[in-house]
Amino acid sequence: MELARLSGSGLRGDPLLSVDWEDHWRHLVRRRAARFGRHEWNQFDRIARNYAAAVARQADPLLEFIEPFLSPGTTLIDVGAGSGRHVVPLAPRLKHVFAVEPSSGMRELIPVIANVTVIGADWLSAGVPPADLVLSSHVLYAIEEPVPFIRKMEALARERVFIYLRDSQPVHPSVPLAEALTGEPTPRMPQLTDLYLLLRQIGVAPAVVSWPNRWVQRFPDLDSAATACRDRLGDRWDERRGRGWLVDHLESAPDGSLTFTDPHSVVGVVHWQLSPGNQRGRV
Ligand SMILES: C[S@@+](CC[C@H](N)C(=O)[O-])C[C@H]1O[C@@H](n2cnc3c(N)ncnc32)[C@H](O)[C@@H]1O
Repeated sequence: MELARLSGSGLRGDPLLSVDWEDHWRHLVRRRAARFGRHEWNQFDRIARNYAAAVARQADPLLEFIEPFLSPGTTLIDVGAGSGRHVVPLAPRLKHVFAVEPSSGMRELIPVIANVTVIGADWLSAGVPPADLVLSSHVLYAIEEPVPFIRKMEALARERVFIYLRDSQPVHPSVPLAEALTGEPTPRMPQLTDLYLLLRQIGVAPAVVSWPNRWVQRFPDLDSAATACRDRLGDRWDERRGRGWLVDHLESAPDGSLTFTDPHSVVGVVHWQLSPGNQRGRV
């Protein structure tokens, strides 16, 4: 990607201070929706089983990171809990977990656990009691209006808010493949840096921690990789060139599966403390 230089580039104003980061986020979500269609809950119903199988095999730095904040007396809300990727390992370390998840396909995969309450609703309409910690992992990418979403997280958090996102694009071969086939970059999703700038704009001063994203996208064989990319690329898919690209870019694993990784991908958390009076922004 070519980067513009501020001096003499024709860019007007200061790229940090002259941008409305909330509007920028909205623009990213709308531009992507215009290309791929608007985000619907049933999309998550459709992918729930594959998603649960994929996350079960991934390293997850969030769990180690959040460990010092856990105790047997602590409660947590997981906003957009998905198939229970974090609910399941965190519940035994906590007093109670409220898992908010609008997709029934995802909810069905959350096991019954004595100290977990599953709430079938989207975040803005969910009735949830306050909790010590409020977490949202990989949810904000398609949320057009992130500020009310974040404000509700703050309103219900007694101690700390955590938002976990990639600071890069999804680790999936269809992302570079789309560009290889069309010559044009795919409209990108918002990422952690966009969120940090938006939070600063709305008066939150979060701590930021990031790690290399070791996500491995795995396919049983070339046909499944081609199907997954065809699904995502729609009319931009080209059978001959697409398969050729996949043969060149997927790696063979010892178990015979094909994998795709991205050494430049990054994942991270922004988190901030809420004081007893719910004054935001203390790290
Ligand atoms: C990529 S999955 C992430 C699931 C889980 N947090 C994880 O890290 O594996 C995104 C989840 O967010 C949920 N979601 C999307 N929009 C939401 C909203 N407005 N309120 C609550 N959950 C939402 C989806 O249904 C989906 O299960």
